[in-house]
Amino acid sequence: MSVVPANIESEILAAGSAEHRRLLGRFFLDTHVEYVPEQMQWPALAEEELGRLRGLPFWQEAVSTENVTSNTVAAAAVLEDDPLVRKAIELQGFEEMRHARLLIALTSHYRIPVEPPPRFAPRSLESDFLFAGFGECFDSFFAFGLFALARESGFFPPALVKVFEPVMQEEARHILFFVNWVKYRRSQLAWWRRPAFRLRCGWIILKQVASRVQTARSMGKPQPAGAGASENFTLTAHQELGAGITLHRLLGLCLAENERRMADYDTRLERPRLVPRIARILFRVIPAGI
Ligand SMILES: [Fe+2]
Ligand SMILES: [Fe+2]
Repeated sequence: MSVVPANIESEILAAGSAEHRRLLGRFFLDTHVEYVPEQMQWPALAEEELGRLRGLPFWQEAVSTENVTSNTVAAAAVLEDDPLVRKAIELQGFEEMRHARLLIALTSHYRIPVEPPPRFAPRSLESDFLFAGFGECFDSFFAFGLFALARESGFFPPALVKVFEPVMQEEARHILFFVNWVKYRRSQLAWWRRPAFRLRCGWIILKQVASRVQTARSMGKPQPAGAGASENFTLTAHQELGAGITLHRLLGLCLAENERRMADYDTRLERPRLVPRIARILFRVIPAGI
């Protein structure tokens, strides 16, 4: 990681230049952290802590999401001609699979029933990668705040917080890599293909927003049997993790945590802007008591 003054270097790197491509790949590879989920020392939990952990409704959904994302990302590596960028995408696929492995290790250790999901085969390498990436931009932003909430409220004991801290930071790296990859990818296209690429990205973002609006609207309403009540679990999990937390405070936490987690990376990399921008608007318009 390097801390370079913003606004000095940030305007120098042209999207798609050799330096931009090198920075994109190097930042990701150089900030990778080693750990083996299967060798994790899981802390002993008190009966009450165990009950709270087992009561969370999203374990299956979390494992499935990581499985889909890891298979999608790993498959998308072949889209890249550049060996460094391809290696970075392969590494992201490995890290996503490691998230699924960590969740499976946790749930098996604490005897939380979770079905190992089947291997996911993406239908369209680029579109599925874009869909997963933009989805992560939403999910990770909310996960940062929820994780801080679980830490502050003592919902997760400190030893478990320590285990999942690298996962959270990996998600920050993933979305930072993704938004810069989108910029890089667009710059590699012929000028006449760029508008269609922008449109496709816009359409995928709209689909991700629509899915979350639907979840937000259904919150608090009874779920029909068999409905995916735990879908978009980063939106609904605050109800479980922190009693009495307001949406206003959660948004504030997400914004602060997002800023903190992005702070140490090279400032020549563009930060994810869309989701923090939406959250900042909501934070301003939603009254503090809600
Ligand atoms: Fe992940
Ligand atoms: Fe990720």
